Amino acid sequence: MACSAPSPLPTITLALPDGSTVQARPVRPDDKPLLVSGFERLSARSRSMRFQGAAERLDDRRLRYLTEVDHRDHVAWGVLDGTDAVAVGRWIRLEDRRRADVAVTVLDDHQGRGIGTLLVQLLALSARHREVTSLEFEMLAENQPMIRVVERLGGTVVYRGREALGSLEVASVPPPPVVDGDPVALLDAAAQPRSGSNSNANELTQ
Ligand SMILES: CC(C)(COP(=O)(O)OP(=O)(O)OC[C@H]1O[C@@H](n2cnc3c(N)ncnc32)[C@H](O)[C@@H]1OP(=O)(O)O)[C@@H](O)C(=O)NCCC(=O)NCCS
Repeated sequence: MACSAPSPLPTITLALPDGSTVQARPVRPDDKPLLVSGFERLSARSRSMRFQGAAERLDDRRLRYLTEVDHRDHVAWGVLDGTDAVAVGRWIRLEDRRRADVAVTVLDDHQGRGIGTLLVQLLALSARHREVTSLEFEMLAENQPMIRVVERLGGTVVYRGREALGSLEVASVPPPPVVDGDPVALLDAAAQPRSGSNSNANELTQ
């Protein structure tokens, strides 16, 4: 009997400002190779903006942290353009459980297409579903692209030396431009039964 190929994972489809579309799905434990290849394709500048100078490689511990997420206190979405993984974004619940820390990465070749913005919109929708009311962004003050994303979605940014702290009220963020699929249903299908992680997103920079 012939073996059939595994069926593709369910995704949602989102529209970009130029009319093209991308797909998104919750990150899974077996996305580790995708994350490694994305990290290797990231420019030194993007890497330093994302990890604030701290990450030269993704070791096993960090990879587990980034992919083995419960989708309740740590939600992560990957964005695909066809079969290419082009972006990943996550929020991690803080001690004040209504707040969460956000981190977003779009591969250099795909920056400036609106993917970062729609990924934050998708994270905000997921946050709302998980009763998180405020998303926080720790950025370098020179990270204008990320600051623009936060401000365009109605957030505020305060500067502290070489850092910028962004804050976005989840309720005021417009919904992501979903053209097909149900993000909340996909998130619930991916969620683990129990809380797994509540540490700060910046553990990733250690
Ligand atoms: C920050 C980041 C996520 C933004 O994603 P993106 O998909 O490029 O964002 P968008 O396309 O939605 O555009 C955001 C704005 O930045 C601008 N922009 C995007 N890339 C840019 C670049 N390399 N240089 C200057 N401006 C840029 C866009 O034109 C847009 O500006 P506008 O509001 O004036 O039109 C992406 O640049 C990235 O991954 N950077 C490296 C990692 C990082 O800094 N992560 C954030 C840590 S929390």
